[in-house]
Amino acid sequence: MKTRLLSAADPETPKLAGEIIRRGGLVAIPTETVYGLGADGLNPAAVDKIFEAKGRPGDNPLILHVTGAAQIELFCHDVPAVAYELAERFWPGPLTMVLPAKDCVPKRTTGGLSTVAIRCPQTAVTREIIRLAGVPVAAPSANLSGKPSTTTAAHVLHDHDGKIDAIVDGGPCQVGVESTIVDLTERPARLLRPGGVTPEQLREVLGELIVDKAVTAQVSQDEVVKAPGMKYRHYAPQCEVLIVSGGREQAASYIRAHFAPNDRVLCFEEELPLYEGCAPLAYGREAAVETLSAGLFAALRELDKPGIGKVYARCPEGGGVAYAVQNRLKKAAAFQIVNAEEAP
Ligand code: TXA
Ligand code: MG
Repeated sequence: MKTRLLSAADPETPKLAGEIIRRGGLVAIPTETVYGLGADGLNPAAVDKIFEAKGRPGDNPLILHVTGAAQIELFCHDVPAVAYELAERFWPGPLTMVLPAKDCVPKRTTGGLSTVAIRCPQTAVTREIIRLAGVPVAAPSANLSGKPSTTTAAHVLHDHDGKIDAIVDGGPCQVGVESTIVDLTERPARLLRPGGVTPEQLREVLGELIVDKAVTAQVSQDEVVKAPGMKYRHYAPQCEVLIVSGGREQAASYIRAHFAPNDRVLCFEEELPLYEGCAPLAYGREAAVETLSAGLFAALRELDKPGIGKVYARCPEGGGVAYAVQNRLKKAAAFQIVNAEEAP
């Protein structure tokens, strides 16, 4: 199959991409978070193609992308008022809500669950594609399963050239990490994955919010978790990643003392001078955490090359969007962290 590259700026693109989706094809779509691999979320045969292209385990459910809050009731039942309050405040945007699924949503899409994850993306061309497709678009991140997510059309082409119908190129994703997922099927609500909408912002609407264990710690393959995707090794380059925490100078002395010739350092731009000779790669500025979230996956993909020994990574501290960056980086590192202020 020839994978067509469609420009988001071309006025014909939404119609074309919408048609491919309506006919049961696969289209990679840009969103503010990461690129998604989209198909008709109500068509099990189309959804099957997503799992096949990604090599994704069948029990890992997909997010349904819709054009707005008015569509929630089409696919979900027993929707609490707070879902509409969240949609009012954060949609279109990087927030996914888990709600009880109506029967029209195939089990293939929900990974066999009785709930469905739903979100309205901010990227205007993608909302137009969904509108013209006339169906909700199921879309996981467009990376091959287990690999760092795709934040440019080139990343998607690298993973899926010749295997999907089209890629809509909308430029690099601004947020850069996947949407925040909040489970509204229990009270208090539960944070399943941190993202561009922060826990602090969610608490302003929800009051109480429980943070699922899978957000902060490694869960094993056989554990029952609320977001099945959280138990799989994720976001990871093929080599070992070790997070080195602690002050800038201490971290640099620890890394320089342990650094071997094929290793790499993933750090903040401000730290580049400290790692001369250690092949440093900066993923953004520590002083502007949104540059770190925007740059993280491109950097992890850059480090996903054979021949790299180990990656020493620096991780931002604190809440807000830094919390999402910590989550992705910790998962890439399989939660291996050393504190340079305590370690020899
Ligand atoms: O930002 C995003 O959310 C991107 C863009 C493309 O929208 N999509 C994305 O999809 O990150 P994916 O499939 O890579 O991650 C979806 C996560 C998985 O961890 C999955 O297990 C969880 O959402 N999930 C989906 N449906 C769920 C459900 N009904 N209950 C709990 N977790 C669910
Ligand atoms: Mg993903």
